[in-house]
Amino acid sequence: MFSDRTNWNLKSNRLSEALAKYRAAGKPLLDLTASNPTECGFDYDRRAILQALSNPESLSYDPDPRGLLSARRAVSEYYSAREIVIPADNIILTTSTSEAYSFVFRVLCNPGDELLIPEPSYPLFSFLADIQDVKLVGYPLLYDHGWQIDFHALQQAVTERTRGIIVVNPNNPTGHFCKPSEMRKLNDICAPRKIAIIADEVFLDFSLAENTPRSFAANNGCLTFTMSGLSKISGLPQMKAAWLITSGPEELKAQALARLEVIADTFLSMNAPVQLAMPVFLELRHGFQMQAMARVRKNLAELDQQLLAQSSCSRLEMEGGWYAILRVPVIRSDEDLAIDLLSAHGVYVHPGHFYDFPADGYLIVSLITPDQDFKEGIKRVLSMF
Ligand SMILES: Cc1ncc(COP(=O)(O)O)c(C=O)c1O
Repeated sequence: MFSDRTNWNLKSNRLSEALAKYRAAGKPLLDLTASNPTECGFDYDRRAILQALSNPESLSYDPDPRGLLSARRAVSEYYSAREIVIPADNIILTTSTSEAYSFVFRVLCNPGDELLIPEPSYPLFSFLADIQDVKLVGYPLLYDHGWQIDFHALQQAVTERTRGIIVVNPNNPTGHFCKPSEMRKLNDICAPRKIAIIADEVFLDFSLAENTPRSFAANNGCLTFTMSGLSKISGLPQMKAAWLITSGPEELKAQALARLEVIADTFLSMNAPVQLAMPVFLELRHGFQMQAMARVRKNLAELDQQLLAQSSCSRLEMEGGWYAILRVPVIRSDEDLAIDLLSAHGVYVHPGHFYDFPADGYLIVSLITPDQDFKEGIKRVLSMF
C-alpha cells in the first residue's frame, strides 16, 4: 500500500531507547544536547513577542506566494545590516529551512539526481532527500587545526547527476565557516558544470571569529540558494518562519525564482500572523544573540578549563555555532559510551556517528546548555577517562 520512499526503518536506536527508559524512570538528567533555545533559560521579550502576534491585519487573507512584502523587506534589512543588498523579490519565505531545502531539491532534481552533502554534518538531509527522491553523496570535511573542505574528494564525488552542493555555513556541529577562498573554489566547480550551491546559514550570526563571516546570500558566481530562519537567528523555532534567497547569474536566477514561486504558491504555507510579526521577531534577534553568545563563551571557557586539568580528552577548534566536539579515547564505540554516560552518570551527549563522523572517539555537546548543567555534565563526562 505504501511508497518505497517511505519504507524507513523506524525502530528507535539503542541510545534513544536508553534515553526513553531513563526519562521514564523519572531520574534527573543533565542534557548536554539541549538545543531548543526556548528551554535553555534565555530571557525573551515576552510582551513584544505576543504583541507582535496580535496585528489586526492578520484578520484578512491576502497571500503572496513569496511571502508578505513587509516580512521579506525585514529579511532584506537583516542582510543590509551585513552590508549585503538582497532585493525583496529574491526572497521566498518558508515555514522552516527544511521546507526551503525541499523547495530547492524539487526545483533542481529529477528522481535519482544527486546532491553533495558535507560529512560530518547535521543529520537532517537523509529524510528530506528520501521524500524528494534525491540521492545524497557525502563529501568529507578534513580536520587539521580547524576544519576545511576536502576539495579533492569533493570533485571526485561530482557526477553527471550532481545538481547541487550543500554547504552549511557555519557547519553543525563542526562550527567552521566557509572561507572566501573556499567560496571561490566552489564557484569554480559549480558554474561550468551547472551545479548549484545550497547554503544553510542558520548559525551565521553565532560567530566567535574576529572577522565577520561571509554569507553566500550575495554569491553570484553560480546559481546559489541561501537559507536561514528565525529558529536560530532569533531563537524562535516555534514561530516556524524561514527564508530562501536566490542569487547567481541573472538568467538562471530569474528561472529559478519563477519555478520556486510556483512551488511556494502551491503550498502557501506561511501564516499571516507570523509574517506580520517577522519585522519585530527579527529585531529581537539582538537580545537573543547576545545572551546565546554569552552562554556559548561561558560554557566554552568552562570546558577549556576542565580540559586543562586532565590529559585524556581535548576539544576540536570551532569558529561559531552552538556545539563543541570532544575528542575522547576510543575505549568503546561512541554509542556505547553515550549509553554508559546516560545510564551510569545521568548525562546525555550525542555520539559522533549521529553526525556521520568517520570514526569513533567524538562526543558532541551543546554550548547553549544552561551553564550549571554544562559544568556538572562535563565534569562527569571527563571522569569517565
Ligand atoms: C544546520 C541546520 N540547518 C537547519 C536546521 C533546521 O532549522 P529549521 O528549524 O529552520 O528547519 C537546523 C536545526 O538544528 C540545523 O542545525
